[in-house]
Amino acid sequence: MEPKIKQVDSMAANRIHNGFYGQDIISVSQFDRARLDYILGVGNEMKILVERFGSADLLQGKILANLFYEPSTRTSSSFMAAMLRLGGQVIPINNVQYSSVTKGESLPDTVRTLESYADIIVIRHPEVGSAATAAHYASKPVINAGDGVGEHPTQALLDLYTIVEALGEVGGLKVAMVGDLKFGRTVHSLTKLLVNYPVEFTFVSPEILRMPKDVLDVVAASGHRYEEREDVHEIIGDVDVLYVTRVQKERFTDLAEYDMVKDRYVVDPELMSRAKERMIIMHPLPRVNEISYAVDNDPRAAYFRQMRNGMYIRMALLAAVLGKA
Ligand code: CP
Repeated sequence: MEPKIKQVDSMAANRIHNGFYGQDIISVSQFDRARLDYILGVGNEMKILVERFGSADLLQGKILANLFYEPSTRTSSSFMAAMLRLGGQVIPINNVQYSSVTKGESLPDTVRTLESYADIIVIRHPEVGSAATAAHYASKPVINAGDGVGEHPTQALLDLYTIVEALGEVGGLKVAMVGDLKFGRTVHSLTKLLVNYPVEFTFVSPEILRMPKDVLDVVAASGHRYEEREDVHEIIGDVDVLYVTRVQKERFTDLAEYDMVKDRYVVDPELMSRAKERMIIMHPLPRVNEISYAVDNDPRAAYFRQMRNGMYIRMALLAAVLGKA
């Protein structure tokens, strides 16, 4: 089936595009259906651009400061690749250990410094609200690449793109999120984004890693149904999207608790044999043990496509925010 990623309508696109120009991207709450359609449509055009030409000069002369206070492989390198493929350049601060942060420089001063050199700042930081703080002090646009256990909005956008690409549309899907729902910023953002569509949610986790109340409140307030479970076997046969997350050792203060829950959920060929033929398994990556390597060649395994889609969606965001989409 042809994925239902809408082509960009030029009149509507102009209005929406103007809404992105110069804006910070801090939370998925900034996106309604029109903005989502727009970014998914531009993301699709970026995918076609890369497949046909490899790169373009849309952002030639623009500079991105890529500021990462926490480890990253995908988000950091896909933002860099996105900027480079659009003809821009990157100041990579992928390890703040080698920056003046180790001399005690504050986040506001670091941001003020980088915006003196760059046109846009991408930031990942361990504290919830840090991207909003950076945006407060910056006059240039700031994009949240993950603020602690808070949000990861660009991940949610690429997740949404992957779902539409694989299953054609979002409406009517049964979406299950599995694993560390308490600390997982990806599932917080994706849940809050998916309330824009008529989906059914199932949250599967151990008791100590349940989805936070503020996220459940957003689901309930939007009129969506959800259920909470502990056993993935009970729901696997019924879901269209199984979104698996890593239990994040780095977020636990009590490592005994981590050891108790770390291997609770493992997606393996036996579990997949109970899943529908037309469904997808997603993971923001990195994975540890929660998806067996034996599942990687299953056509329902979407996590590597998901990872690649991150570059297209980040190209779309950079172009939109810098006024060049
Ligand atoms: N999905 C994700 O955020 O991966 P990284 O931590 O490697 O950026």
